[in-house]
Amino acid sequence: MINGKKDIISMNDFTAEEILLILKKAEAIEKMSDEEKLSLMHGKIVATMFYEPSTRTKLSFESAAMRLGANILYFDTEHSSVKKGESFSDTIRMVESYSDIIVIRHPLDGAARLAASVSHKPVLNGGDGSNQHPSQTLLDLYTIMKEKGTLENLHIAFTGDLKYGRTVHSLVKALKHFHPIIYFVSPSMLSMPQYLLDDLDDAGVTYHIEENFTGCLDKLDVFYMTRIQRERFPDPEEYEKVKGVYIINRGNIEGKCKDDMIIMHPLPRVNEIDVDLDTTKYARYFEQARNGIPIRQAMMMLSLER
Ligand code: CP
Repeated sequence: MINGKKDIISMNDFTAEEILLILKKAEAIEKMSDEEKLSLMHGKIVATMFYEPSTRTKLSFESAAMRLGANILYFDTEHSSVKKGESFSDTIRMVESYSDIIVIRHPLDGAARLAASVSHKPVLNGGDGSNQHPSQTLLDLYTIMKEKGTLENLHIAFTGDLKYGRTVHSLVKALKHFHPIIYFVSPSMLSMPQYLLDDLDDAGVTYHIEENFTGCLDKLDVFYMTRIQRERFPDPEEYEKVKGVYIINRGNIEGKCKDDMIIMHPLPRVNEIDVDLDTTKYARYFEQARNGIPIRQAMMMLSLER
């Protein structure tokens, strides 16, 4: 809570009970008829401010809001006065005066919290740099809950870019409340930041650090794959060393994991999940993205105290 309003900036700010409350709210909204939903945010204006590219987060927030009867105020950096040198804070002040809630994505860590400190309207973080992506985390948890019936005591592997991947950073902050057994699988140059491992140590979470997923594959309930985040590498040559380091396909998954293991990915993927897995019983990444609608609806409703 910043300036007396309900922002959603970091999973650090949530208790287990608050996380479960949002999942329950999403479930309740999902069960409503289309007509009932249309009245929930009637007359409200949602501003979407994306300083970085997005397909899922931007479009699903917009779709989620429209399905609740709200209108969208589209902010586009290319055609705004940011191009004339207007400051970030002044831009937020303007947008808050034209809207009821702001969804923001920004390449810099901490930008969403700064926006929330300036704005008197709730700010929802749609991803800030390598830091946090709470709406992704909540839809990830919603997907796991739907598929596994619980968030407790699950064996979960995070594979790929654990250094720059904000979806992983955000999700482990939430999972620490639910007694997971975590396997962090990455090349050493893309390992989890130490401050996040320290956080897990403080919470008493069991985790293993691996360079290959073959050793843990047969124990997993959830295989969470991530893209190597090319756009965050300061040196393109470093990216070339690790691109394509992990690729999963039918050949290295089928018959080697639990029957009910699910594969998740925040998307977009590049080549780390072969399309031959898309039609297997393990694939959940497209359902996961679809779960962004009820979760983002629940987030907006709670931020508007509705
Ligand atoms: N998962 C995710 O954040 O996707 P977009 O970058 O397309 O929003």
